[in-house]
Amino acid sequence: MSAKRYVKIAPSILSADFCRLGEQVAEVEKAGADLIHVDVMDGHFVPDITIGPLVVGALKKVTPMPLDVHLMVDNPDQLIPAFIDAGADLITVHVEVCYHLHRTIGSIKQKGVKAGAVLNPTTPLSLLEHILPDVDMILLMSVNPGFGGQVFIPQVLDKLANLRRLVDEQGLNIEIEIDGGVKLDNAAKIAKNGADIVVAGSAIFDNPQPGEMVKQMRAVLDEA
Ligand code: DX5
Ligand code: ZN
Repeated sequence: MSAKRYVKIAPSILSADFCRLGEQVAEVEKAGADLIHVDVMDGHFVPDITIGPLVVGALKKVTPMPLDVHLMVDNPDQLIPAFIDAGADLITVHVEVCYHLHRTIGSIKQKGVKAGAVLNPTTPLSLLEHILPDVDMILLMSVNPGFGGQVFIPQVLDKLANLRRLVDEQGLNIEIEIDGGVKLDNAAKIAKNGADIVVAGSAIFDNPQPGEMVKQMRAVLDEA
């Protein structure tokens, strides 16, 4: 896998300073971030409770960057309409919780919002076989969802390369996003294995200068 592609950077605000959210989002935007990743947790699918539609609505007013809403929730169908109304540009749902994935993806796209499916690290790519033609994005988790600051699970690199091959072979217009444990020192490898978008939370916001981290990651990805 060596095809050169522009890899987008999606800072995850999970690791941002929530008291200075607008300021920090403006900083990463200015530094060249491509979209903002919003981690929604319900305290059931994953232990924590994080961000709801109110925050998405607030972000929508202050940034032109697309809002990439990652629903780590047990019942996405119940929450999707509120996130669409709040201004989500892209919504991803976990295949592990969707009994009727095709219907759920359709309900997002019907509203003119991009839709994607997410796989946990050990959930096989084979589950995507019948949904691939209908999604705008596949998000591969490279940590077990629930927390920022975890270590990248290396097995996901092969999974990524396999998904890249599948998408290219079928000529599908699907973006592949990698989420979890993305740092300056593994971003090049992730890009080479076929990612279109990398999510980075702690790598960017645990630094006192998030904008500088976006620039450094941009440089690493452009060189990959
Ligand atoms: C994890 C979330 C990630 C998280 C990534 O459950 O889905 O988006 O914010 O954080 P880092 O980049 O710190 O692993
Ligand atoms: Zn996420």
